[in-house]
Amino acid sequence: MDGEGITGTGRGDPLARVTAMAHRAIAALDLPPDGWSMTRLGLHDDDQLVRAVLRLDRAGLPSMVVKAQLRPANPAEFASDVARNAAAYDAFPRSRDLGMPEVLWRDDAGMACATRYIPGLRMSQAMRRTWHGERLTLLTGTGRWLAALHRSGDPGRAPFHPRGAVQQWRQKAEAVRARTERVAARPLFLGLAADLRRRAGQLAADGPFDVPYALPHGDAHLGNFIRGEAGGTWGFDLYPHGWRPVAIDVAKLLTDFTTLFHFPDEISAEHPIPPETLAAFMRGYDLLPMDDPALDLLVRAELLRILSTVPADPARRSHGKTRTLDRLLPILKRLAETSPGRRRR
Ligand SMILES: Nc1ncnc2c1ncn2[C@@H]1O[C@H](COP(=O)(O)OP(=O)(O)O)[C@@H](O)[C@H]1O
Ligand SMILES: [Mg+2]
Repeated sequence: MDGEGITGTGRGDPLARVTAMAHRAIAALDLPPDGWSMTRLGLHDDDQLVRAVLRLDRAGLPSMVVKAQLRPANPAEFASDVARNAAAYDAFPRSRDLGMPEVLWRDDAGMACATRYIPGLRMSQAMRRTWHGERLTLLTGTGRWLAALHRSGDPGRAPFHPRGAVQQWRQKAEAVRARTERVAARPLFLGLAADLRRRAGQLAADGPFDVPYALPHGDAHLGNFIRGEAGGTWGFDLYPHGWRPVAIDVAKLLTDFTTLFHFPDEISAEHPIPPETLAAFMRGYDLLPMDDPALDLLVRAELLRILSTVPADPARRSHGKTRTLDRLLPILKRLAETSPGRRRR
């Protein structure tokens, strides 16, 4: 057991830290100290993020998941993330089909927490292992889960400002054009950013309009969902982002699905999410219409966001970021090729 707190340097070994925190959780939960096996579920260790996740198993007891973070060394922010997950668990309408793991323990100063382990497969894996029709059924279930989360998270309506929603990409594109910032696939980035700006302008021309808002998931990609061993859809790893348009979560989820499971020729500039996929999601998610204009805009912004997470310098790309770029590029090229207002730059 280590008794030291987080010093704020953000350095250190995340696996050593999470192991120490696992023992702390076991003691705090009054569980037997011996006989546990620990398996690594996740590890980030780069300039921005140092964090590790372990599964803890012991015969005769339910398994748990322990997460510990070293960097960013911001205990208040970590505590607020965990508090959001705990509050969402309390509000969520849990059922046989829709679940969320319970937060069992937290050490705010140590930037660590423990949740109940959910046996099953990551949704992205479960979807990869099955055929197209069943994959869409799983997507419908994920839509149902997200609708339940949004309904239980202070739902309402408020104005959507298209230009404000894409402003950060407009600014980034200006910096990229001025070469004060670099991005991977510069011409595609700039083309998509110009298209986004044009679409936001068109949408704003009629003045602001109301859209559904709620407390969002905040990181709704398919790796943050589980297809339960006994069926059912489970979501977790929420990030507090205030009260936001629900379409932000939907855009992230559908973009993740599309870049993972669709060929480029299944999308077009008009339909960045294939209509069949959108329809499957909306069979479960009933808070937005199929042709929601804010959703369309936010999907395009999400593609830019994903691209901007890839380091411009190929030598600085992790294996994961190289794969992200590999799955994104054909889709971005396809969007550019099928765009009616396509211009040479
Ligand atoms: N309660 C849980 N039950 C089962 N698997 C989990 C649970 N929590 C996390 N995992 C697994 O561990 C991975 C990392 O956990 P997550 O909370 O998403 O952390 P990160 O912040 O690293 O994304 C998840 O993608 C999932 O596969
Ligand atoms: Mg996660």
